[in-house]
Amino acid sequence: MRVVILEDAAAVAQRAAEIICRQVQDNPQSVLGLATGGTPLATYRCLVQRYEADEVDFSQVTSFNLDEYVGLPKDHEQSYSTFMHQNLFGKAGFDLNKCFLPDGTAENFEAACDDYERRIDDSGGIDLQLLGIGTDGHIAFNEPGSSLASRTRIKTLTERTRSDNARFFDSVDQVPKLSITVGIGTILDSDRILLLATGKSKASAVRSFIEGPVSANVPASALQMHPKVTVLLDEDSAGWLVRADYYREVEQVQRELETSPKS
Ligand code: GLP
Repeated sequence: MRVVILEDAAAVAQRAAEIICRQVQDNPQSVLGLATGGTPLATYRCLVQRYEADEVDFSQVTSFNLDEYVGLPKDHEQSYSTFMHQNLFGKAGFDLNKCFLPDGTAENFEAACDDYERRIDDSGGIDLQLLGIGTDGHIAFNEPGSSLASRTRIKTLTERTRSDNARFFDSVDQVPKLSITVGIGTILDSDRILLLATGKSKASAVRSFIEGPVSANVPASALQMHPKVTVLLDEDSAGWLVRADYYREVEQVQRELETSPKS
């Protein structure tokens, strides 16, 4: 796991956008796994800027979002579909026919979940998966206790997640109780994973998933089993890491190796 501690949230967004853009520049037909929430917003703004500056072309990209609230129609103000259209797809030249989210209003959820997994497979699998992390260590909507081998399915949200996400709604009562989410197994099948965390509220979850044991109690800890994970943190979210100095040292060596002229 490559743990990168950056100065602040803006630096996290810049670095994340740099990694995503490089992926798409290297392979314009990349399959991206995308996330919602407050954390990736600044990254999406950077991607929009780079698109507007003609540095990157997202028109051939296929994308799969991690999750959606059950019961919210696509055009609901707080649906993740609306979030993605407002913050990225509609502003950065994505082909909407290639942008997929789980359907929170499906008539048959089991079939919709299987179909979502099949679509990801048919696309060739996710090249780069972007993730945030919940204060309880969840990734996508895989709450603590989720099987580390789980696939796309319906998941009940914890009270903590509902109250964390209440800031996007008028009140906590309006936050749906169920979600449709890709599984931890689905996420682990991605070629590369990029997790972002910013702010003091994430420090405990960040410490647990990087330095604690692999456990279904901390769903993000499953990433320890994946060979290509980069974690971008600001100083606040990295505040509880015991080996922070070591990660900084490793990163410095890594950056030197990457920027040194090849013989
Ligand atoms: C939601 C999303 C997650 C996201 C998490 C953290 O629960 N389903 O994908 O990582 O919130 O969100 P935020 O970035 O707003 O803290």
